[in-house]
Amino acid sequence: MGSFPGPAFKPQNSVVAWIDQRLPIFSLVHGALGPGYGAPRNLNYMWNFGSLAGLCLVIQLLTGIVLAMHYTPHVDMAFDSVERIMRDVNNGAMIRYMHANGASFFFIAVYIHIFRGLYYGSYKAPREILWMLGVVIMLLMMATAFMGYVLPWGQMSFWGAQVITNLFSAIPIVGEDIVTLLWGGFSVDNPTLNRFFSLHYLLPFVIVGVVILHIWALHIPGSNNPTGVDVKTKADVIPFHPYYTIKDVFGIFVFLTVFCLFLFYAPNAMGHPDNYIPANSMVTPSSIVPEWYFLPFYAILRSVTFDILIIDAKLGGVLAMFASIGVLFVLPWLDGSKVRSMKYRPTTRMFFVIFLIDVVILTWVGAQKPDLVILGSEDGFALRAVHLGQISTAYYFAYFLVITPLLSRREKTLPVPESIMASVTKS
Ligand code: HEM
Repeated sequence: MGSFPGPAFKPQNSVVAWIDQRLPIFSLVHGALGPGYGAPRNLNYMWNFGSLAGLCLVIQLLTGIVLAMHYTPHVDMAFDSVERIMRDVNNGAMIRYMHANGASFFFIAVYIHIFRGLYYGSYKAPREILWMLGVVIMLLMMATAFMGYVLPWGQMSFWGAQVITNLFSAIPIVGEDIVTLLWGGFSVDNPTLNRFFSLHYLLPFVIVGVVILHIWALHIPGSNNPTGVDVKTKADVIPFHPYYTIKDVFGIFVFLTVFCLFLFYAPNAMGHPDNYIPANSMVTPSSIVPEWYFLPFYAILRSVTFDILIIDAKLGGVLAMFASIGVLFVLPWLDGSKVRSMKYRPTTRMFFVIFLIDVVILTWVGAQKPDLVILGSEDGFALRAVHLGQISTAYYFAYFLVITPLLSRREKTLPVPESIMASVTKS
């Protein structure tokens, strides 16, 4: 384990040397992001998504702080204060669109980052804690995004909050009390909006704290790489700066280009039109759908339509939804393979591709009405969206709980390169 550090930090001038002796901040940056950090020489573009997620976090913080200067967290004024931001605040519409689309792009970056980790086995020893901190970040992101979506107090904000907070009532004994605590009363109302605003402002800073731990945990073993083979000699690494700093900057420009295309040409493409209607507790929207990045989990939630022993369907759905993320925590122990990268695990790779398709199907199902007929007819046999959701949910769990543990211990893997350098020179 361990990476090969580059040259030690040598201060270029006496002021830097003076500061660094008292507070070694320059040495820290040199060792973590500069020439002092030796990173595997074969990292591909999939390794850009960590820095891109970091960029999104910064965008969300900066735009969010400006929005909070103009937003009013009161049920009578929230919707109008957002409209005012859109119309009267200088560059307000752009700042709001950056924040709303920024959330979607943040999830795109993080989901790709996670799938990269799954494919190349980056969750395996010795990176288990790094991975688990990532799962914590994902949960925090979900909570933050959910509460943020409630703030404009449109129809989807209100009814989304209604549906999701109500889920906690399924928990036996304490469920109702938890819901009352979340609401700050006996319905989704002003106290709910107030606490969601407070937490929505707080949690991103908690995320920053966990990201620092995440990067710290990364720097102990160093990055994994496409071969999954450990760094063995100095020849396997190159200095992070300038090689990967320039590659990260290039990725950032590409990412920002796509981001700008959405901002300038389709700023509402990923939103729901119903959220431009003020919240009304007397009118339920025809269908209540969460933001796209929650859809797979929403589909899993809704696919438990039957009681399982003493667990009723509602609680079963809630448990399945939390378990779908919880299972990621134990993944490093479910996968017993000695080989990390799926490049050399052809059978696992095939099931992984099916898993990717499965998640896409879950996303689609999450956006449909459960009784939508996909195959067959209304009066005869019919395969409905809910059935497809159930099949996909079954595969989702089977992938982690059955296929991965079995295959990782049985599969005949392809020959793994002797070293990172050997894999590079061969190709
Ligand atoms: C705010 C969100 C996040 C940020 C800013 C972030 C940042 C980073 C950065 C900068 C790296 C190093 C560059 C790279 O490998 O791409 C990294 C690596 C890693 N991250 Fe994250 N991350 C986030 C969320 C997550 C999540 C949700 C997971 C998993 C559930 C995760 C798992 C990992 C793993 C396993 C590595 C090591 C990858 C390797 O060396 O192959 N991260 N992260």
